[in-house]
Amino acid sequence: MRLAPRVGRLPLAREARTGADLPSRPMDLTSLDALGSQATAALAAAADAAALEDWRSAYLGKSGKATLALAELKNVPKEQKPAFGAKVNQLKAALEAAFKERAEALGAGAAPRQSGPTPPMIDLSEPGILGSSGLGRRHIISRVREELVEVFARMGFEVARGPELEDDEHNFVKLNIPADHPARDPIDNYYVDDPTKVERPRMIRSQTSTVQIRVIEAAVAEAKAAGEAEGVVGGLAAPIKIISPGRVYRPDTVDATHSFMFHQIEGLYLDRAVSMADLKTCLFQFAKAYFGVEAQVRLRPSYFPFTEPSAEVDLRVRLRPDAPLRWMELGGCGMVDPAVLEMCGVDPEIWTGFAFGFGIERLAMGKYGIPDIRMLFENDLRFLRQL
Ligand code: DAH
Repeated sequence: MRLAPRVGRLPLAREARTGADLPSRPMDLTSLDALGSQATAALAAAADAAALEDWRSAYLGKSGKATLALAELKNVPKEQKPAFGAKVNQLKAALEAAFKERAEALGAGAAPRQSGPTPPMIDLSEPGILGSSGLGRRHIISRVREELVEVFARMGFEVARGPELEDDEHNFVKLNIPADHPARDPIDNYYVDDPTKVERPRMIRSQTSTVQIRVIEAAVAEAKAAGEAEGVVGGLAAPIKIISPGRVYRPDTVDATHSFMFHQIEGLYLDRAVSMADLKTCLFQFAKAYFGVEAQVRLRPSYFPFTEPSAEVDLRVRLRPDAPLRWMELGGCGMVDPAVLEMCGVDPEIWTGFAFGFGIERLAMGKYGIPDIRMLFENDLRFLRQL
């Protein structure tokens, strides 16, 4: 808002700058006294914020009278210099204190005058400044997560979400991880309920594979509600093609490559006649889209309870333009185990699919040359600003 121009009064600051009413003879202690009284009277007359500001620049500003008085020191006879200097400083200090007191006394009245209600301090219709002004930025993990989602979205994967507070049914049972499996040991999981006392103990999830189960369960429930008329076969009405990025938790000892919390991205594709060749093609397409045309994919036989067959995925990529092509481990994958589908109410004779899961930190650290996972979570801005 612009203040209405004030008419009929020459701003004091201008008078001071022209030196219009400065005494022409060299200043002495008496003229300092006169200046003091003049300033005090003018201050008492200043009734609003604008007048107060004029006063401040007239007396205490760069070319204000009290400031200029100090410059007069050079014209003062030698023997008077110490007393004159001390008095000018006293005067300035006194005027500064008086100014502060007056501003406080005027309080709200010192705010610029305006009529009508107070306008909003910010214009909410203006575009946001975050991102455009260089103020703040996305954390590197968020950025890599978004890049991954973007690549898989182009291949037709939808983003699915699942809760971080899970139960052992989704984290283990329906993923075909039996009760005596070492992965269920309380030492390796953050249980919220005591698994020896509670039948369905809750936990914060140790893997995003839980979302596979949640998504299949939801699709089966939806198909059931729709009924046979909607073309439901073998428990499902349509293929499922999702990715799910998110946090997972494991009580690992923290070191350069381990954290008690990290991020995974899970993928699941269920359809008729999905094969291992589709899985490898999908991973290959991802690698090329994310790392460039030189990327290669290698599957090594492995074991996961919820996939059969299972494999570890390696990518051969140039992590940075100046780096050599190198193999790096990406994560696990495989064909969804028929037992998993059956437990969720899907007929594995009709539906088949593949799944994969990999760590986001490992990718981000490789791509950005970050040597220690702890650097990602210490929130040291000197580090984060470089990414
Ligand atoms: N959940 C596994 C882990 O955390 C990773 C994984 C392996 C996910 C194979 C999958 C898969 O979907 O098919 O180690």
